[in-house]
Amino acid sequence: MPTVYLSRRVPDRVRRELEHDFELILHDSETPPTRAELLARAAGMDGLVTMLTDRVDDELLDAAGSQLRAVANYAVGFDNVDVEACTGHGVVASNTPDVLTGATAELTMTLILALVRRVAEGDRFVRAGTPWIWAPTMMLGTGLSGKTLGIVGLGRIGLEVARLGTAFGMRAVYTDEAGPRDVPYAFTSFERVLVEADVISLHTPLTPATRHLVGAAELETMKATAYLVNSSRGPVIDEEALAEALATGQIAGAALDVFEREPAVTARLLELDNVVLVPHLGSATGEVRDAMGMLCVEALRSILLAGVAPPNALNPEALQPTAAANG
Ligand code: GLV
Ligand code: GLV
Repeated sequence: MPTVYLSRRVPDRVRRELEHDFELILHDSETPPTRAELLARAAGMDGLVTMLTDRVDDELLDAAGSQLRAVANYAVGFDNVDVEACTGHGVVASNTPDVLTGATAELTMTLILALVRRVAEGDRFVRAGTPWIWAPTMMLGTGLSGKTLGIVGLGRIGLEVARLGTAFGMRAVYTDEAGPRDVPYAFTSFERVLVEADVISLHTPLTPATRHLVGAAELETMKATAYLVNSSRGPVIDEEALAEALATGQIAGAALDVFEREPAVTARLLELDNVVLVPHLGSATGEVRDAMGMLCVEALRSILLAGVAPPNALNPEALQPTAAANG
């Protein structure tokens, strides 16, 4: 059986499926292996299942050895994977698209609603035992109906957030590197999204072009009443600049599912009531984490057992004939 290294504890069903077809070496922990351990364990493997916290680069591919054929990344985002390096090593890389679109869009709406209706702040307030009684002016938030939702990056998740936002009566506008699409939402420039939107939601992949896409200048361009939500990748926002904008009331609030130096959080944000912080929960439902795992299993089966690139391959051109496929 081909050998596979799995760098984190996964749902039981996913582990059992992997054990059925592969000789599995499991890093059975909620926390990542050290880099040294990852490099050492990868040696001699035919396939790797990696997390978004594992850097897949020339160093790891070299450490694994020339027999390595497959890297299944347990995430839709693959900024941690040097796909070109994989191709250079004849390794097919895959991600987990589609199955997490709904869950991540739902989490994004959860953040938007929590933010404009001050849910996390209200929860802290009640737990603190603060004296209160219903009052017409107490802890007022903002409604969504009639407001403009600005989507930055209209991929699968951005598109679903636009759909959900319109169900709440919002008008969705979007910007996307790839230009306008045939969708019932207005395409506009990034600059216009910043100027017009009441809620801005980020759905770009992390690339050199999107690192610090939202910094001091962009925050200054936003309305003072606007909210910023990020469920994509932390470094898309300059977190220090965001803390400054929130502290000085330059924007109304923010909600973050991801962080620039994850899992570290810019300390100033922790002191602010107008920011909602959750620990990278976009795809975190039982059903979805099972489904993501099964996409990894299927990708490994396809590459290592059938010698065929799976539909979710990031670089199908890297496919090399395997011993198994050659019989
Ligand atoms: C999680 O952030 C993912 O990219 O799947
Ligand atoms: C992620 O899957 C996206 O397309 O936004």
